[in-house]
Amino acid sequence: MAPNNYPPIHEVAPPSTQPRANGKVVIITGANSLLGIGRAAASQFAQNGARAVYLCDFADDNLAAHKKDLDNRFPSVDIHVCKFDAADEAAVRNVITDALQRYQRLDVFFANAGILGPQTLFSNVDSEGFMQTLRVNTLGPFLAAKYAAPAMQKTSPTKSAPGGSIIMTASVAGLRSNAGATPYSASKAAVISLAQTLAFQLVGTGVRVNAVCPGLIETGMTSAVFDAARARGTQGKIGQLNPLRRAGHADEIARAVLFLGSDDASYVNGQAWAVDGGLSAGHPFVPGKLA
Ligand SMILES: NC(=O)c1ccc[n+]([C@@H]2O[C@H](COP(=O)([O-])OP(=O)(O)OC[C@H]3O[C@@H](n4cnc5c(N)ncnc54)[C@H](O)[C@@H]3O)[C@@H](O)[C@H]2O)c1
Repeated sequence: MAPNNYPPIHEVAPPSTQPRANGKVVIITGANSLLGIGRAAASQFAQNGARAVYLCDFADDNLAAHKKDLDNRFPSVDIHVCKFDAADEAAVRNVITDALQRYQRLDVFFANAGILGPQTLFSNVDSEGFMQTLRVNTLGPFLAAKYAAPAMQKTSPTKSAPGGSIIMTASVAGLRSNAGATPYSASKAAVISLAQTLAFQLVGTGVRVNAVCPGLIETGMTSAVFDAARARGTQGKIGQLNPLRRAGHADEIARAVLFLGSDDASYVNGQAWAVDGGLSAGHPFVPGKLA
């Protein structure tokens, strides 16, 4: 039996055994891809009781199917689809305005749309290819924050306190070399910087900004690598440089994103969180030579 002066734990969020996104309005970019991180994240937020999830993408050939699937599995969640360019300022502003008009709140923006850009030696990259990579991968998350942060500060009858969570997809390529071409890596390093500087610019607002840094995940972006390895019979070598010795699944990133978007992560801010099987934890090594 606890003594009379036994203090309760100051709990900051609803029980962690309950849905983690209850009532939240969530916007996700880069959600069209069948294998993608955006689709997997949408499923996690819907499964965790979101009020509404916006699926946004440049391409829209799968968006209707994703909506149908989520409508069937989670009928109490409003699913909206939006064909848009994540780097188009007016388009980003419009989807956020729509969320505010419909629900009088915005809680989570997962700025996840991304492209690989030119896959060649830096000296062969032209200005256009370099800037296009930065436009989608870096300007996109910047615009998301520019319009999402003020929207998240609005309160309403269903949202008593200002605040929200902006999550940007960076990459282990943004942490150090050897995980992508130079334009891609630079664009993702800039995303990490966005999360750091925006977290401070949003001081006192209750809006958190974090970057997630996936390692090698089998998605639409990387499927050619996996398909080629399977064709060669070398798929067992994929991911051998990380201590889990495998590639990751989109769902493994989505669950980290769900956490960052939830109130469980209420003190996690300005961070670049690697979800990479441990790849970025080590120095370079020769496989088989270390204990
Ligand atoms: N797959 C990996 O190994 C890996 C590793 C690190 C980081 N990432 C990052 O994860 C994010 C998600 O990519 P993924 O791996 O799911 O790849 P994916 O190709 O399966 O999905 C990316 C989605 O972004 C969309 N998109 C591209 N440009 C867009 C634009 N201008 N506006 C709106 N949507 C646009 C694409 O249509 C696609 O649906 C990207 O930012 C990517 O750089 C992926």
